[in-house]
Amino acid sequence: MIPSVLRRFWLWFERVYLVYFVDRVVLASSIRKFYRMAAGHIYFQALAAAVELDLFTILRAEGAMTIAELAHRLGLQEQPCRILVQALTANGVLRKRGDRYANTIMSRIAFSAQDPRNLKATILWQKYIVYKPMSRFLESLQEYRNVGLEEIPGSGQTLYERLEAHPWLEKIFQDSMQEISIQANDLLARYVDFSATRMLVDVGGGNGTNLLAVAHRHRHLQGRVFDLPSICSKATEHFARENLADRLSAVPGNVFTDDFPVGADAFMFCHFLCIWSKAQNLEFLRKACDKLGAGGRVIVFDIMEKDSGDGPLAAAMGSPYFIALATGGGMIYMKKEYEDLCRQAGFSRVERVELPREHTAIIATK
Ligand SMILES: C[S@@+](CC[C@H](N)C(=O)[O-])C[C@H]1O[C@@H](n2cnc3c(N)ncnc32)[C@H](O)[C@@H]1O
Repeated sequence: MIPSVLRRFWLWFERVYLVYFVDRVVLASSIRKFYRMAAGHIYFQALAAAVELDLFTILRAEGAMTIAELAHRLGLQEQPCRILVQALTANGVLRKRGDRYANTIMSRIAFSAQDPRNLKATILWQKYIVYKPMSRFLESLQEYRNVGLEEIPGSGQTLYERLEAHPWLEKIFQDSMQEISIQANDLLARYVDFSATRMLVDVGGGNGTNLLAVAHRHRHLQGRVFDLPSICSKATEHFARENLADRLSAVPGNVFTDDFPVGADAFMFCHFLCIWSKAQNLEFLRKACDKLGAGGRVIVFDIMEKDSGDGPLAAAMGSPYFIALATGGGMIYMKKEYEDLCRQAGFSRVERVELPREHTAIIATK
C-alpha cells in the first residue's frame, strides 16, 4: 500500500518537476532556440507559403478569420489551412482571438502588401534563390567556394552573373535588395553629410535605390550607378520613374575589368563589399582612392558585424549566403575591418556612423 502511494507521489512529483519546472522554466528558452534552429527550414516554408497566398494582406484588409473562413478565402481545404495556421501561430506570426486568427504587429508590417515597409520580396528571394543552394552549405565550407551556385543553371562564377540569364529571378533579387536598402537608406541620406558632394558614384548600385534616397534629399548632387549591364537598365528606368533622369544615370561596367566612372568626388559601396573577399575589397577601395582628389570620400554602407564578434543575427544570415551562393569569398565583416581596409587603401581620415537595422556607414576621406 505505502510503496504504491509513494510511487504515485513520485510520478506526480517527477512530472511536475520535468514539465513545469525543467521544461517551462529552466530550459524554456533553450527549447525554443532548439526548435527555431532545427526546424527553421520548415517554419520558413510556412511563412513563404503564407506570403505567396497573400494571407497577411487578406487578414489586414478583412480582419480576423476562423480557419473555415480563411480556407475559403485562400482556396485551400480546411485541414491544410489549419496546418499552415498552426505553424504560423506557434511561431508568433499570427495570434488567436477566440476561434479567429489575426496578424501580429510583425506580420502586419513585414508581410502585408499594404505596408510600405513590407519584406515580401525578401521572402521570395530566400525561397526562389537562396533556399535550395543553402543545402550545399557544408560542401561550401569544406571547399571554401560557392558550391550552392550549382543549383542555379547557367555560366559565371557568381550569383550576379548567373542571374543575368534569369530575368524573373533577377527581378526578385533586385526587389529584395531595394526592400533591405530602404530600411536604412533614408538615414544614410540624413546622417552622412553630402553637402559638398557634386558627383556620387554608387559602385554595384543595383537599381539605384540608395542613390535615389541621397539624391532626393541633396538636390544639388549628380549621381551614377556603376553595375553590370542588365542591372543598369533597371536603374535607368527607376531614375526616369522618379523624374531624376536629368541628374542620375547608369554606367555599365564590371568592377574587376572596367575603370570606375570619372569625375566622382565620392564613391559609395552599398551592400557590395560584403560579397567579396578582403583582398578584392582592398583592390576596389584602392581603385576608388586613385580616382579621387584630395578630400574625396568613400562611403561604405552595409550591415556589419559587431566588433565584439557576437552578432547581430543579420550577420549570421548573410555570411553563410555569401560563402555558399553569392561569390564564395565574402561575409558580413566587422566595422573595424572596413575601417582598417580604408586606411590600408590610402584614406587618411576614417569615421563611423551608426544607423538603424544593423546598418553602419564608414566614411573614409582621402
Ligand atoms: C548585394 S547587391 C547590392 C545592390 C545595391 N547596392 C543595394 O544596396 O541595394 C550587389 C550588386 O553588385 C552588383 N555586382 C555584382 N558583381 C558585379 C561586378 N563584377 N561589377 C559590378 N557590379 C557587380 C550586382 O549586380 C548587384 O546589383
